[in-house]
Amino acid sequence: MEDKILKLKEERQKISKSYSKKTPNPTYIDTLANKHPEIQHVIIKEIITETPDTKSFILTPDMETTFELIPFKAGQYISLKLNINDTYVTRAYSLASDPSISSKKYKITIKKVENGLVSNYMNNEVKVGDKLLISLPVGNFGYDPNRDEENVIAIAGGSGITPFMSLAYEIEKNYPNTHLTVFYSVKTAKDIIFKDEIDLINKKSKRVKFVITLTREKKDGYLNGHLKKEMLEPYISEFNTILMCGPKALYQAMNEILSGFNIPKKSVHFENFNIEYTPSENNEYDLKVILKNDFIVTKCKSNETLLEAMEKAHIKAPSMCRVGICGYCRSILLEGKIKMIGSNMPTAASINDYIHPCITYPESNIVIRLDI
Ligand code: FES
Repeated sequence: MEDKILKLKEERQKISKSYSKKTPNPTYIDTLANKHPEIQHVIIKEIITETPDTKSFILTPDMETTFELIPFKAGQYISLKLNINDTYVTRAYSLASDPSISSKKYKITIKKVENGLVSNYMNNEVKVGDKLLISLPVGNFGYDPNRDEENVIAIAGGSGITPFMSLAYEIEKNYPNTHLTVFYSVKTAKDIIFKDEIDLINKKSKRVKFVITLTREKKDGYLNGHLKKEMLEPYISEFNTILMCGPKALYQAMNEILSGFNIPKKSVHFENFNIEYTPSENNEYDLKVILKNDFIVTKCKSNETLLEAMEKAHIKAPSMCRVGICGYCRSILLEGKIKMIGSNMPTAASINDYIHPCITYPESNIVIRLDI
């Protein structure tokens, strides 16, 4: 077995060396990426200011190339495909709208992030009528009646509330025996996204309830402080399913709280849109990207992912989640040393040098082949 793997590695090195003379042909690469079939063409129908730093975007089919949007299940996300300052980028955003009207419109909600390329572009630059390319809805996060209990507790921090808005509609309409309580933690009342929608659901629904806690403000009608065991206690029953979406700190705090309720790990599910990595050294390496008969050589810093470096070099590498879960960016490492963070890639794939460039950082010059 080891001999076979060594031989495979030798073959791969030969392939990587054979791509050294041809002239790069970016047009060919773009053509390939555009042929990727899972693209929807949408138009921004409406922009809603939710809080001072967060906007929602209502997306409808452009009716030239896309006539109906692909239905989604609550908890799924789409990936925006944008050209910003001549750089191709993608970003994943959870769908926040009612899934029962998903063929007509999607809603995504984007909070500005300091120095965030896409979040600032979407909040400051785009306008009603602009056209966008988006992926089909993907992801496995959400409520599954075959797996989950009928008492669902959702925990949201900041913009992590988005998947639970669509979940609130889905549970209210489709699951008459299921109860959903969404604990939503924000700094102040001004930071509550979807406030009017939440108030309306709380008024109308008998099975779906939002409980909001303000961590930096005391105000009537809201809990005060970070989430605690005592806040959740009245809503926990014998069998529960826990869904979480928010910053890493929220997951860490919740793990401790949930251990006090003896809720089994298999009943806890979370959405993760964050990766964190600080390299021990700051270097810049050569990154050679091979696509079928073409290649491009670019630079990649040790603190940027191979996917980010490819996007800066205008390579439309496939991607969706950007956190190593969906597998869309899967590529083969032909040469080089890498650091892959938090991958859930099967062992068989990783010993055969498959990598997810969205969570992979270089530790030497790199040669990869994209799997498109
Ligand atoms: S984009 Fe999803 S695994 Fe890389």
